[in-house]
Amino acid sequence: MTLPRADRAGAGPDWLTKPSLRGTRVLLRPFEERDFPAIGEALADPEVLRLTGAAHTTEEANGRSPVPDDTMMAWYGTRRSAPDRLDLAIVDLATGNCVGEAVLNDYNPANASCNFRTLIGPRGRDRGLGSEATKLIVDYGLTALRLHRIELTVYAFNPRARRVYEKAGFRVEGTARDALRFDGAWIDAIHMSILATDGVRSLTGAGGSWRP
Ligand SMILES: CC(C)(COP(=O)(O)OP(=O)(O)OC[C@H]1O[C@@H](n2cnc3c(N)ncnc32)[C@H](O)[C@@H]1OP(=O)(O)O)[C@@H](O)C(=O)NCCC(=O)NCCS
Repeated sequence: MTLPRADRAGAGPDWLTKPSLRGTRVLLRPFEERDFPAIGEALADPEVLRLTGAAHTTEEANGRSPVPDDTMMAWYGTRRSAPDRLDLAIVDLATGNCVGEAVLNDYNPANASCNFRTLIGPRGRDRGLGSEATKLIVDYGLTALRLHRIELTVYAFNPRARRVYEKAGFRVEGTARDALRFDGAWIDAIHMSILATDGVRSLTGAGGSWRP
């Protein structure tokens, strides 16, 4: 196995090597142009918009176009050259189609920390894909990228995502009260994190393998 530059002595994390992480149900790999319609559809899904805090009303959540616009295509078209973050398409191995994304972002080099976020559209949810994708990218972050800490925020009205994160090893750190307003109701945001020192983690342990 060829190690990314981060695993060679003295080097920092190599964010420019965009890996493919293979599990039994999903493949995480860099975005390709053929993924754009699928990721556009996932990003416009009302449930995704509500649960990620990207919409504040049902009307807003129902109103997003699934057709990728120029800004979206430019964003996903440049993810391969992003020097300080990792954006991977989640591909359903049963169909070969992109169903969502898994992202390590907000990298803080001094603290060897970053943020994690993920979303899966309706075609991929509730079949174990998110659980596997989360474990794969988190293991990659804590091992190959040598991050010390990965943090995330999940809204209190999203127990499914919280369950997925807890299964991957994230622990609750605290609650930001009334952090989101949706349809006039106040929703708490739960902060979670996982540390490299929380336990022995490996790509093998996540049931996956990776290659640059
Ligand atoms: C959150 C998300 C990534 C999870 O991926 P997924 O593939 O749907 O989830 P999985 O099928 O792998 O696992 C879901 C787990 O939650 C559990 N679950 C489902 N609904 C639940 C609920 N209402 N309460 C508690 N647990 C629930 C399932 O039983 C399963 O746990 P298990 O494996 O122990 O049985 C995906 O659903 C998604 O992107 N949703 C919309 C956007 C979103 O919420 N993004 C995250 C924002 S923080």
